[in-house]
Amino acid sequence: MGDVIVVTGATSGLGLALMPALLGAGYTPILTGRNAEKVAAASADLGVAGYQLDVADAGAIEAVSAQIVADHGPIAGLINNAGIWLEGEFESYDLAAIQAVIDTNTTGTILMTHAMLPEMISQGRGTVVNVVSTGALYTRKMISVYSASKWAIRGFTGCMEVECAPKGVRVMGFYPGKISSDMYETAGVGRDLEMAMTPEQAAVMVVTMLRDEGMVWGQVSGRSIADYL
Ligand SMILES: NC(=O)c1ccc[n+]([C@@H]2O[C@H](COP(=O)([O-])OP(=O)(O)OC[C@H]3O[C@@H](n4cnc5c(N)ncnc54)[C@H](OP(=O)(O)O)[C@@H]3O)[C@@H](O)[C@H]2O)c1
Repeated sequence: MGDVIVVTGATSGLGLALMPALLGAGYTPILTGRNAEKVAAASADLGVAGYQLDVADAGAIEAVSAQIVADHGPIAGLINNAGIWLEGEFESYDLAAIQAVIDTNTTGTILMTHAMLPEMISQGRGTVVNVVSTGALYTRKMISVYSASKWAIRGFTGCMEVECAPKGVRVMGFYPGKISSDMYETAGVGRDLEMAMTPEQAAVMVVTMLRDEGMVWGQVSGRSIADYL
């Protein structure tokens, strides 16, 4: 059995594409997601273990992470991929939408890391990849809260990189440009994704980051060449 890698938000887009990519690279991926039906369907389809895990629910993070460690430990890696999009003028956002973005993208990533990291530190080995965004590398209008949620994780990732590397655990950030997933549609936003990288292309980048255990890549970014046209 290959190294066990836990992936959040693995029921669509990049997270789902990571399942076959990780299997192909010899890992044992654990599929997690907020929607129980989607988790059951995807895990049965792919033949991987699946757990319902809403990263906006702190209690669920504690309980499900402990269950995953009990069922599959030792855990070699965590990919904090779950995320939601919010776009529009700041004053148009309702409170629940703001809270959901921060709870999922920011607090969810931090609490998942808090739940899984001791397991890796106790082994003196492990990798955490935080899926961030180019939205955390620059600023632009209409994405204030999404951007804030990801800039926070850029800071968290950088601090954890230097704190955890001496303990044998790599903490790295992946900063993709546009991915042709359902993320914008789920948020009710129309977006031309002709120029975007595919979830499969993004998954190759993340697996490459995981595989080279001799390297800590502080910030890996990339976008489809079509995005430059
Ligand atoms: N798409 C882009 O252009 C782009 C660019 C840069 C960075 N990213 C980042 O890439 C990551 C993956 O996004 P994607 O493009 O693959 O979008 P996606 O297809 O919408 O996938 C997001 C996944 O996160 C899950 N999710 C949402 N809220 C969750 C929660 N509270 N708990 C657990 N899972 C939750 C979704 O579950 P459901 O299936 O139930 O919706 C879905 O499986 C995100 O962090 C996103 O911010 C995306």
